[in-house]
Amino acid sequence: MEQELTRIGVSLPANLLNRFDTIIAQRGYSSRSEGIRDAIRSYIVDYEWMSKEEGEKIGVITFIYVHHKRGLGDTLTDLQHKFLKLIESSLHVHIDHENCMEVVLVKGDAKDVKTLVERIMALKGVKHVKLTITSLGDGL
Ligand code: NI
Repeated sequence: MEQELTRIGVSLPANLLNRFDTIIAQRGYSSRSEGIRDAIRSYIVDYEWMSKEEGEKIGVITFIYVHHKRGLGDTLTDLQHKFLKLIESSLHVHIDHENCMEVVLVKGDAKDVKTLVERIMALKGVKHVKLTITSLGDGL
């Protein structure tokens, strides 16, 4: 049976929507709605994958943020100090006039890594967060 569709209204910055429209046109989506449904599915898969990870892991958290957003840089630094035991190293890159990128190498329990990633994701002004996880051997 076909699922009932629910309409939602979403407010987005114009440039974000423009870029999204360009991509869904290039990928041949029949409508913006279909592109958004796929993006939401992908977001859910990513989140569920992250939630299932457990045990000792090494990983890299990469994120981009607006550097002139008031207090954001300090908040990100405070957050990393709170997760001191998890963080092995970090690298800050000033990408352009507006954006900074940080690459944070983490080693520790997957649950703690997930918590840190979620805390970073939840901050306003953080545009993109990517987590890459690798297992610590165990014969794999
Ligand atoms: Ni910077």
